[in-house]
Amino acid sequence: MTINKAIFPVAGLGTRFLPATKAQPKEMLPVVDKPLIQYAVEEAYAAGIRQMIFVNGRNKRAIPDHFDTAYELEAELEAAGKTELLELVHSIKPDDMECIYIRQPKALGLGHAVLCAQCVVVNEPFAVLLADDLMVGTPPILKQMVEQFEEWHASILAVQEVPAEHTRRYGIVAGTSVTDRMMDLTHIVEKPAPEAAPSRLGVAGRYILTPGVFREIANQPRGVGGEIQLTDGIAALMRREKVFAYRYHGKRYDCGSKEGFLEANVELALAHPQLGPGFRAYLKAMEL
Ligand code: UTP
Repeated sequence: MTINKAIFPVAGLGTRFLPATKAQPKEMLPVVDKPLIQYAVEEAYAAGIRQMIFVNGRNKRAIPDHFDTAYELEAELEAAGKTELLELVHSIKPDDMECIYIRQPKALGLGHAVLCAQCVVVNEPFAVLLADDLMVGTPPILKQMVEQFEEWHASILAVQEVPAEHTRRYGIVAGTSVTDRMMDLTHIVEKPAPEAAPSRLGVAGRYILTPGVFREIANQPRGVGGEIQLTDGIAALMRREKVFAYRYHGKRYDCGSKEGFLEANVELALAHPQLGPGFRAYLKAMEL
């Protein structure tokens, strides 16, 4: 059993990043030179996934446009003999990658956004990537998770340790360790207060889920913040099937927040093969 479909919920309102997200999706914000959504799609592709399903809302036309053919731009680059740039533009959507767009009519929550993609996923396990969580790791985080899935054949959530004072920002899990990185889950709670959190392991924006989760999400009432929560659907799934948490190797930047976005830009610019050395020299010269 392999994973061939990924859902990208991109219909959120992005209120934490206003005013930048008033008329454009936060997933199109660039970190150094690439929009967030492209990092996430590349991560899914590197994990062997070829069907990318975007759950879109209003004001999100830029995302389908980004993965579409840009005929005029390509013709101009070709005429000017700019072959490297032409290849760069082509590589955004490799020929064997399929993009599917679904509309979430109202931002009713992440669980609802995932449910909107049920008609395409139907009855196979799938990945969910939240593009505003920019994940950096070798191998890429989702590839690490697909490798675990091939061994365990069950839903897997990416987790990391979070500071006690930040538990309100995450789904928090608890369970029994089955290896040094995998945990068989017994609990998941959305955004608990530190004193109510069952652990300090917070869910990051990468999931592999079995299709049974759709029925569970559909049965959920509105949860925290009046939204239909993916976490509640997963909690219900846990009563029927095994669900694991995987402590990934790598780093996550919360690019849905201004601080996380700035950190990602600085660190990825410093690591950039062309821009890195000059940028490092610039920062040094600032004598911060
Ligand atoms: P967030 O919790 O970051 O919400 O969503 P948001 O609305 O995008 O941003 P803030 O909190 O107002 O700043 C997590 C992910 O779920 C998607 C978002 O696009 C993001 O990738 N989402 C959220 C949907 O697709 N639909 C929804 O109804 C809610």
